[in-house]
Amino acid sequence: MYHENTHPLVKHKLTILRDAATPQQLFRELASELTMLIAYEAMRHLETTPVPVNTPLAGTIGCKIKNDIVIIPILRAGVGMLDGMLSLVPYARVGFVGMYRDQETKQPVPYYEKLPRDLKDPHFYVIDPMLATGRSIVATIDSLKEKEFDTITVISLISSPEGIKTVEEAHPEVDIYTGSIDECLDENEYIIPGLGDAGDRLFGTK
Ligand code: URA
Repeated sequence: MYHENTHPLVKHKLTILRDAATPQQLFRELASELTMLIAYEAMRHLETTPVPVNTPLAGTIGCKIKNDIVIIPILRAGVGMLDGMLSLVPYARVGFVGMYRDQETKQPVPYYEKLPRDLKDPHFYVIDPMLATGRSIVATIDSLKEKEFDTITVISLISSPEGIKTVEEAHPEVDIYTGSIDECLDENEYIIPGLGDAGDRLFGTK
């Protein structure tokens, strides 16, 4: 199921993020802030376990998140959301997945994968600012499921309707949290209106 965040703060920050005149430093800061706002909602359903805690005044029962939280940025643009995720969950484990697009088949080809080990009830958050075709996200989820990891949530800043459909068809039980579902993909598979190339804008490569 997909969840488009309609909070006014998300809409406001996304508008500045999209603006071609927004400089790189501000773009990066906004990408982090938006990640936090969207991920906060995405984590609403995490389970907790009761734990005793002593305040300076009394003992009480608090709670802690039950699952190991594992963040999986898809290289390279996903790294631009990592700070925001770690601001929310500083103790999270982090794995990396790298995909490049085969120019002929247009299919994602994995070239790097490094996942944390010894996980206890892991909940995976796959992060990529642009859910465009959805193919690299599907390939990443396929790879996690091959390793018997099946509690997975996707977080993106902007999605295309085509990408959402592709992920939902391949993995209907995976929740997708996004800041906006835009109009469509163009002939180069960029999201319209989108924000251009997220990696280039995050890392100043153009
Ligand atoms: N990747 C991007 O950076 N932007 C898009 O619009 C699509 C994929």
